[in-house]
Amino acid sequence: RGGPVIAVDGPAAAGKGTLAKRLAQALSLPYLDTGLLYRAVGRLALDAGQDPAAPAEAFAQKLSPEDLARTDLRAPEVAQAASKVAAQPAVRQALVETQRRFAGECGAVLDGRDIGTVIFPDADVKLFITASPATRALRRFLQLGGDQSAPNAQAQVAEMEEALKVRDAADSGRKTAPLQVAADAQVIETDTLSAEDVLAQALAFARRRL
Ligand code: C5P
Repeated sequence: RGGPVIAVDGPAAAGKGTLAKRLAQALSLPYLDTGLLYRAVGRLALDAGQDPAAPAEAFAQKLSPEDLARTDLRAPEVAQAASKVAAQPAVRQALVETQRRFAGECGAVLDGRDIGTVIFPDADVKLFITASPATRALRRFLQLGGDQSAPNAQAQVAEMEEALKVRDAADSGRKTAPLQVAADAQVIETDTLSAEDVLAQALAFARRRL
């Protein structure tokens, strides 16, 4: 490989994307949000009027840069569809090479669920970023522009927490490439940490390995 590979895994809305982007910038490496690949496949399945649990391998095989650049991949229903297509071994298989090739040239930071366990078991640095469901739900609520002083804010956050838990359970419980902590991963619990704190801890760990 032409450069280091840094794997950032963890459950939904734990702060993986924020960290991975900042790490990539600090270390001058390309960054790939692998969740986007599964979201794009889920989106295409929904567009085709298909149940996301039905075979979606064909969508994964013909993913285009335009599919990945769509602005409607962040919607909650797309996240649920992504989780369903991501449980299909054939879909995952179709996306393995894309992910490996991305880092092949000069190394990369990749965030996802199985980067340190399946895609790059020999990654130079493995980080597992996590936080309690309540913390993650609140962060996602604020990220989506939610107003904490709104009368129904609590109910909305509670609903998001439920959705996150359902998705985590599916991602952790699936047979193929479940979400799990790699044996050699550094776990960072972000409940009481700022994004700057998380970056500092991750960089300190990475620099010992690089
Ligand atoms: O990270 P993000 O929330 O965008 O991921 C959406 C869904 O894609 C996850 O819930 C998971 O089911 C799937 N995914 C995956 N493996 C990855 C990245 C995402 O299975 N490496």
